[in-house]
Amino acid sequence: MLGAWACGGWQAVRRCASLPRAVRLRVRDALGAREPVEAVRVQGWVRSVRSQKEVMFLHINDGSSLEHLQVVADPSLENRDLTFGSAVEVQGKLVKSPHRMQNMELQAETIRVVGPCDIWSFPLKMKERHPLEYVRQFPHLRCRNNTLGSLLRIRSEATAAIHSFFQDHGYVHIHTPIITSNDCEGAGELFQVEASSEVREPAEKTHFFNVPAFLTVSGQLHLEVMAGAFTHVFTFGPTFRAENSQSRRHLAEFYMVEAELSFTESLQDIMQVMEDLFKTVTSTVLSKCPRDVELVHKYVSPAQKDRLEQILKNKFVTITYSEAVEILKQASQTFTFKPEWGCDLQTEHEKYLVKHCGEVPVFVINYPYDLKPFYMRDNEDGPQHTVAAVDLLVPGIGELCGGSLREERLPFLESRLQRLGLADAYQWYLDLRKFGSVPHGGFGMGFERYLQYILGVDNIKDVIPFPRFSHSCLL
Ligand code: 4AD
Ligand code: MG
Repeated sequence: MLGAWACGGWQAVRRCASLPRAVRLRVRDALGAREPVEAVRVQGWVRSVRSQKEVMFLHINDGSSLEHLQVVADPSLENRDLTFGSAVEVQGKLVKSPHRMQNMELQAETIRVVGPCDIWSFPLKMKERHPLEYVRQFPHLRCRNNTLGSLLRIRSEATAAIHSFFQDHGYVHIHTPIITSNDCEGAGELFQVEASSEVREPAEKTHFFNVPAFLTVSGQLHLEVMAGAFTHVFTFGPTFRAENSQSRRHLAEFYMVEAELSFTESLQDIMQVMEDLFKTVTSTVLSKCPRDVELVHKYVSPAQKDRLEQILKNKFVTITYSEAVEILKQASQTFTFKPEWGCDLQTEHEKYLVKHCGEVPVFVINYPYDLKPFYMRDNEDGPQHTVAAVDLLVPGIGELCGGSLREERLPFLESRLQRLGLADAYQWYLDLRKFGSVPHGGFGMGFERYLQYILGVDNIKDVIPFPRFSHSCLL
């Protein structure tokens, strides 16, 4: 906590030699201090400068909180470089603030401009509320905008809450590989990985890893391996899909939270973990960063907080895929894609179902066998009729989570893989069913879609730190 005192290079220094050793404080800690502190040092970026005849006021922010620290200074400390956006180090006394809106303020003794900011070319302007679409044009600067700052702090808090949820419930965290030869979802939306020389001069049948390798689309198959030893495992990492979609809910690079549970025979058990994860993480975020959430909701989706509080109190709704198709068939609305049993639910269908159920999260279970990947468990309710699959649909977004029971029975899995011509490639996966196979299942939740939903953010690019290569269309 005790920072070294340095006075070399200061642009505005008073009584340098007589200053005591100063405690370095982050803005959040300075604002939360209970008692005055004689000598503190705060570093950050200037969010506002107001100079009056007798006194100068600065607001400093260092990203540790949404609130800025007010600095009160003698106008003699003013300096040409002390502008909105400049990086500063302020030393002085932390005292109780006479203002009702803030607890503490800093009476400056010295102010050093560490890095000036050219306010004329700086795209963010003092006291302007920039819309998300505007700051999206400046991915390298937008984290200094209040709303983006709040979004990224919430993202960080939600990440920690997801890890805590699983650790508290006895799950082992696994780093699943990012480069893999598995195409877990089988949907063909893969980015291939090659050495750059091979991309430039492709020689037939040469691959950097000797076999085609891809950026992972899901850590699930690797988690299944680990669930065969640890029973409860999770992973939370980057996932890649080469979907050529420009939608506001698709990314090329996104984070997925995935869990896998062994000795689980019921899809309801998996759904319970999904619901508990959603509710626990959301409650934690609401209680740990209330001001950040309040700011985002205020500017982006004013009624979202009340809606979330209702959702946290009630049980999620469950319908079967067959019931969903019946609801859609009976709808007075006409759809672009006619609802038919055996066809995928389109975004328009998902929206309608969520509305029909009262704008709450809805589990849709038991999808047609032919619609889903090879690893899902046959429900045996007819010849290859439905599988024990679940999608969680949420208002405004559509699919937030996808999961299933896995086919743990060797003959079922073997014949399905053979029909698909994949038996050789998945020998290792079949091995898992030969050596101590157990009923198991799991799910994946899109982290950015989760943040979009709880915060009511329309465009998925606004909940990621760097949007440039995250989407099929470059920013
Ligand atoms: O439904 P998906 O494809 O499921 C899986 O990958 C399973 N193997 C997970 C598992 O069971 N372990 O993807 C899971 C979630 C989706 O529900 C969605 O929220 C998110 O990942 N997702 C995307 N998010 C942003 N951009 C994309 N292109 C996404 N594709 C999927
Ligand atoms: Mg899915």
